[in-house]
Amino acid sequence: MYSSNLLFFSLALLIITLSPIQNFASASFEEANALLKWKASLEIPKNSLLSSWIPLPLNSSASVPCTSWFGVVCNADGSIQKLNLTSSGLKGMLHRFSFSLLHNLTHFNLSLNNFYGPIPPEIQLLSKLIYLDFSENKFSGVIPPEIGNLHQLTILYLYSNNISGPIPIELGNLKSLTDLWMENNQLSGSIPSSFGNLTSLNRLYLYHNQLVGLIPIELGNLKSLTQLSVYKNQLSGSIPSIIGNLTSLNVLSLFKNQLSGPIPFELGNLKSLSGLSVYNNQLSGSIPSSLGNLTSLNVLYLFQNQLTGPIPIELGNLKSLTDLELTNNELSGSIPSSLGNLISLNVLSWWKNQLSGLIPIELGNLKSLTDLEASSNQLSGSIPSSLGNLTSLNVLYLFQNQLSGPIPIELGNLKSLTDLGVSDNKLNGSIPSSLANLSNIQWLNLGGNKLFGPIPSELGKLRSHSSFSERKPS
Ligand SMILES: *[C@@H]1O[C@H](CO)[C@@H](O)[C@H](O)[C@H]1NC(C)=O
Ligand SMILES: *[C@@H]1O[C@H](CO)[C@@H](O)[C@H](O)[C@H]1NC(C)=O
Ligand SMILES: *[C@@H]1O[C@H](CO)[C@@H](O)[C@H](O)[C@H]1NC(C)=O
Ligand SMILES: *[C@@H]1O[C@H](CO)[C@@H](O)[C@H](O)[C@H]1NC(C)=O
Ligand SMILES: *[C@@H]1O[C@H](CO)[C@@H](O)[C@H](O)[C@H]1NC(C)=O
Ligand SMILES: *[C@@H]1O[C@H](CO)[C@@H](O)[C@H](O)[C@H]1NC(C)=O
Ligand SMILES: *[C@@H]1O[C@H](CO)[C@@H](O)[C@H](O)[C@H]1NC(C)=O
Ligand SMILES: *[C@@H]1O[C@H](CO)[C@@H](O)[C@H](O)[C@H]1NC(C)=O
Ligand SMILES: *[C@@H]1O[C@H](CO)[C@@H](O)[C@H](O)[C@H]1NC(C)=O
Ligand SMILES: *[C@@H]1O[C@H](CO)[C@@H](O)[C@H](O)[C@H]1NC(C)=O
Ligand SMILES: *[C@@H]1O[C@H](CO)[C@@H](O)[C@H](O)[C@H]1NC(C)=O
Repeated sequence: MYSSNLLFFSLALLIITLSPIQNFASASFEEANALLKWKASLEIPKNSLLSSWIPLPLNSSASVPCTSWFGVVCNADGSIQKLNLTSSGLKGMLHRFSFSLLHNLTHFNLSLNNFYGPIPPEIQLLSKLIYLDFSENKFSGVIPPEIGNLHQLTILYLYSNNISGPIPIELGNLKSLTDLWMENNQLSGSIPSSFGNLTSLNRLYLYHNQLVGLIPIELGNLKSLTQLSVYKNQLSGSIPSIIGNLTSLNVLSLFKNQLSGPIPFELGNLKSLSGLSVYNNQLSGSIPSSLGNLTSLNVLYLFQNQLTGPIPIELGNLKSLTDLELTNNELSGSIPSSLGNLISLNVLSWWKNQLSGLIPIELGNLKSLTDLEASSNQLSGSIPSSLGNLTSLNVLYLFQNQLSGPIPIELGNLKSLTDLGVSDNKLNGSIPSSLANLSNIQWLNLGGNKLFGPIPSELGKLRSHSSFSERKPS
């Protein structure tokens, strides 16, 4: 094998020296052989497009790989510049890949294959790389710190592999990076503060790893950042208030970590934010009223924390909000009637808090609402009949409060309702016959009240599995 290659190369060299016309293409001849050597180490499915990678006849033009090899693009000098083997059913490793011979590569895309094993440190020899996409493979081992020498990189996708170990601080040298996607791996250690030097970065995805430690305050330098997704890790400490300087942010996803301390008031500066998701942490303190300035917000997920104090009236300014979830905190005070301004809302949930006072009549304005989940609080007064205007409603949970008075007849208008729970309140009066019109009901719980009279027989016919007494676990 070795000696025949040697012969092959010497003959190629001979032809090149004899013919000045083929001189331009000599590089690609060497590169082509490097690719063939790597190909020989791979498992390739039958009928693969890679069958176009065939040994070059000695008298052929060495530009053949540039014109007829699948996934290969050459530069003007006939040297291999791009390698795009995405989604080609390939299985194998990189240990036979000749990084030194293929150093003219600017684009290297192996995404969506079954490559495994380590990413060799020799990758640093691909010093012209602009795009590197190894995503959705089975690469393992650590990220070689040498990747930090690939100064031209603008896109680095290593996501959805089995890469472990720490994130090398050297990645902070990649000043041209716009996209650094390393989510869905087994990365451990902390987020390097050197990332504060990645001032071109638009999107930083580190979610679903095993990262620990603080969110570095240096990230506050990343003025171009539009998306910061570090959810599903074990990050701790507080949310740095300097994140409020990242005024280009659209998405801030910090959920499912161990973050504590308050939600910084400064987050109210993030005017472009469409999603703010900090649920499943240990955040405390009150909801800053400044969040009412985030008028581009579509989703605001604050649930499952230890937030206290009232729901700020200012949240009523968030006209674009479709999803407001405050569930499972220690919020107190009354429900601001301003929430009735959030006419884009689909989901409004604040179950399991200590909210008291009346359910604002104004919630009847929320025509797009599909879920209203207000159970397990200390709400009092009567159920406003205006809720009968919420004709998109699927789920209405009012159970475990101190609501009194009758069930409004108007609830019979909620034709889309599948779940209605008003149990464990102080409701009295007769069960309205209008509930017979709730033909989509699957779960109905009226128990633990002082209601009387028959449950409309139509309901009894229409649902077979619903319970009148069990409490729906939420
Ligand atoms: C890389 O490209 C340059 C210029 O296009 C060329 O001179 C050189 O021979 C190429 N290198 C290889 C290994 O082909
Ligand atoms: C290369 O050589 C083969 C025979 O060895 C011949 O059939 C073919 O035409 C030649 N091709 C070129 C491009 O010269
Ligand atoms: C890479 O290859 C895939 C499939 O072979 C093709 O759909 C895609 O357009 C290519 N991408 C680039 C940037 O050339
Ligand atoms: C790699 O190829 C896939 C499929 O064509 C494409 O979606 C992806 O953007 C490419 N990666 C880079 C970094 O260009
Ligand atoms: C991921 O890598 C670890 C070693 O780091 C190995 O034990 C495990 O089997 C790998 N998992 C997959 C799905 O390849
Ligand atoms: C950021 O880069 C500067 C030089 O550009 C360097 O002095 C500094 O150490 C780097 N910061 C970090 C945290 O790596
Ligand atoms: C963050 O913003 C504040 C107020 O806009 C400013 O005073 C501060 O210098 C900024 N910090 C950085 C590191 O840019
Ligand atoms: C943001 O909200 C706070 C509190 O609601 C308010 O005092 C402040 O003026 C607002 N700032 C801007 C720039 O809108
Ligand atoms: C909403 O419901 C209330 C009380 O049932 C009713 O008086 C009002 O006209 C309704 N408003 C709209 C806009 O449908
Ligand atoms: C319901 O209870 C209130 C006081 O809690 C009482 O005034 C009212 O008469 C009761 N209504 C019915 C129908 O029992
Ligand atoms: C059910 O709805 C129909 C049509 O909307 C209405 O005519 C009827 O009165 C309702 N039934 C009850 C019991 O409210």
